[in-house]
Amino acid sequence: MYKPMQELLIDTQSPLLKNNFTFGVATSAYQIEGSTTVEGKVDSIWDVFCRQEGAIANSDSGEIACDHFNRWKEDIALMKSLNIEAYRLSISWPRVISSIDREINQQGLNFYQQIIDCLIEQGIKPYITLYHWDLPQYLQDIGGWQNRKTAEEFAFYADIVSQFFGDKIVAYATFNEPWVTSFLGHLHGIHAPGLQCRKATYHSVHHQLLAHGLALPLLRKNAPNSQHGIVLNGGPSQAATDSFNDKYAANIAYQEQWDLFLSPLMSGCYPDTLLELYQNYLPKNYQEDLLIIKQTVDYIGVNYYTRNVVQSATPVMSNQYTCYENAEATEFEKTAMGWDVYPQGLKMTIDKICQDYQLPAIMIMENGAAFDDKVTPQGVDDPRRVQYFKAHLAVVSQLVISGINISAYFAWSFLDNFEWAEGYNKRFGLVHVDFESQQRTIKRSGIAYGDMLAFKHQLRGDK
Ligand code: FCB
Repeated sequence: MYKPMQELLIDTQSPLLKNNFTFGVATSAYQIEGSTTVEGKVDSIWDVFCRQEGAIANSDSGEIACDHFNRWKEDIALMKSLNIEAYRLSISWPRVISSIDREINQQGLNFYQQIIDCLIEQGIKPYITLYHWDLPQYLQDIGGWQNRKTAEEFAFYADIVSQFFGDKIVAYATFNEPWVTSFLGHLHGIHAPGLQCRKATYHSVHHQLLAHGLALPLLRKNAPNSQHGIVLNGGPSQAATDSFNDKYAANIAYQEQWDLFLSPLMSGCYPDTLLELYQNYLPKNYQEDLLIIKQTVDYIGVNYYTRNVVQSATPVMSNQYTCYENAEATEFEKTAMGWDVYPQGLKMTIDKICQDYQLPAIMIMENGAAFDDKVTPQGVDDPRRVQYFKAHLAVVSQLVISGINISAYFAWSFLDNFEWAEGYNKRFGLVHVDFESQQRTIKRSGIAYGDMLAFKHQLRGDK
């Protein structure tokens, strides 16, 4: 067995080892649960998308996934054995609301209730994401995020969930990565619902923001002592060359990732540059919704994995398919996703968004890396993932020391799971899952994470 004691946070003075900082692990419903057709669950857009030929690597789907639906108890026990302080899970909307007529599925709510109660019993704080991409298909059938009604249905769903769980939840997130839903799902077509249309993309952005704005007052009313926010994703966008066109493209890419969301959320307006280019793609009378969208949030969640290297796609400034694309860059180590290991990008990103906006607390809701892990009789040795976490945690420490209010860090992911279009081949877990036998094996990175927390709790004098 490995001996990674305090491999991740060497500096015992790190502010991350204080009581007011929370360490957790994250997952999402469709990626781990399986049991997609039981106890009244209806199809989500991901169930449907996975049935499309060629949509997912190896024709994988979330039908079985980590079988967490049946194994949640043993999974929480495993979490506990790693001294995890908080668990960020998502609720599957189509498990909870079964039809366009707003039928509530009590069995679905009960499933999550057992999990949440068990977490609380174990002293693990529950964090909930309401939308981690699995839109009910019955809503896609009326246009999904292109239809304003989906925003109203989201508010209803958020109301039901938060009435049911109330303050038991430490923090609610309305949306996980609305950029991904909008741009990968509606422009690039590689995520559900598989569209390639800029108008659909901008409608999807606007209606998710509106849904967030409609839900927030309900969440606050139902769970006044919980924290409420939204989770965004991205990194710095760097131009592939010094050319004007590439620099312009990198700026647009950055703005679409961050300002397109932060500006309406924090300042109640869309960014001028993007409006100049794409105003016609927003819904008519979008301005009227901006007051609803700008709500006070208690935190902004940031998911960080890598940087983006961007080049212009010709012709620049066209309103065609896209005006930028990702460029190949070779100078940094890459993960199995082909993503650069670039911890300094986390600092660049957080520094910049904090400079540009008056932000509340920040929580790092996802950070992690995929590598080709192998199980051996000695376990799963994943030194590159250990290194990845170590480097990124050092940056989080640095940011906190510099005065930025970051209150939590969640490793993505607790378990290897269904990595969307990439299927099961890309493993992000602290815990290895053999998808044939459902055997779980804690990786060396999982042991290191658990040891860091044991050390923290020892330092703090916890039991
Ligand atoms: C994020 C998603 C998460 C997972 C990681 C690798 O964009 O939120 O579900 O797929 O990437």
